Amino acid sequence: MSSPPQPRILMCPPDHYGIEYEINPWMNRSLGAVAALAFRQWQQLHDTLVALGVRVERMTPQPGLPDLVFTANAGLIFHNTFLSSRFRHEVRARESPHFDAWFAANGFTVEHLPEKTFHEGAGDALFCGETLFAGYRTRSDATAHQWVGEKFGVRVLPLELVNPRFYHLDTCFCPLAPGAALYFPDAFDTYGQRVLQTHVPKLIPVVEPEAHRFGCNAVVVGKTVVHNSRCPGLAASLAQAGYRSIEVELDEFLKAGGSAKCLTLRLDGEEAAGWKQKG
Ligand code: ARG
Repeated sequence: MSSPPQPRILMCPPDHYGIEYEINPWMNRSLGAVAALAFRQWQQLHDTLVALGVRVERMTPQPGLPDLVFTANAGLIFHNTFLSSRFRHEVRARESPHFDAWFAANGFTVEHLPEKTFHEGAGDALFCGETLFAGYRTRSDATAHQWVGEKFGVRVLPLELVNPRFYHLDTCFCPLAPGAALYFPDAFDTYGQRVLQTHVPKLIPVVEPEAHRFGCNAVVVGKTVVHNSRCPGLAASLAQAGYRSIEVELDEFLKAGGSAKCLTLRLDGEEAAGWKQKG
């Protein structure tokens, strides 16, 4: 049997990371971020992924773009296509030319959404098996998700994000494998909860205090899940489901409303993506 291809993840070092504006309820300019600590935490996430066999690619940090570290929002990867995000906020839209240049230089076909339809990439659109689960309202538009579904020829299940603290889908939903995912129920309305329960046979709930530590914002590499520290319930649930959990403290990034998953973008497709399993 041939070994699986090496996972590839894009990250951007936090040289220019900081809390310079407030575009989600976690951000508070007067609290700021501690640069040295952010560096250490980012490096630990990086080193943990490398130790798991991941090939980490690096974006060059850019002054004036403090959120460029959150590469999950660059766009959506589907096979060799990079569908560039259309950010809701101008302060983040300025990141797009840098991401587009990186993907073009690295052999991806770069595509764009129609103007004025917002879509924040892998932050709001996550494959679980053949289906693209799509969060909308705060950042991405439901119409943008529909457009993506038609473009890629995949089924899209739109989920309204009703809790402002969980403004991106990847803050409250994390596919583990086709048919298996973590989620924080209260981030969704009863309709959204029902959609998830109907379409994801193994749905593992995360309790509120751990969801508030961004436990759902996890990176899945094979049968290992890397997530923020102090999520004991999540670690236990993962162990029960046959996953190893590795905790990396990422609290400096929580101050911007991000954690492990937001700091990464899987270039070869996330573990749970049905198209990836088929190659
Ligand atoms: N401060 C960033 C923003 O509000 C955080 C992005 C977090 N990324 C994510 N994929 N959830 O846009």
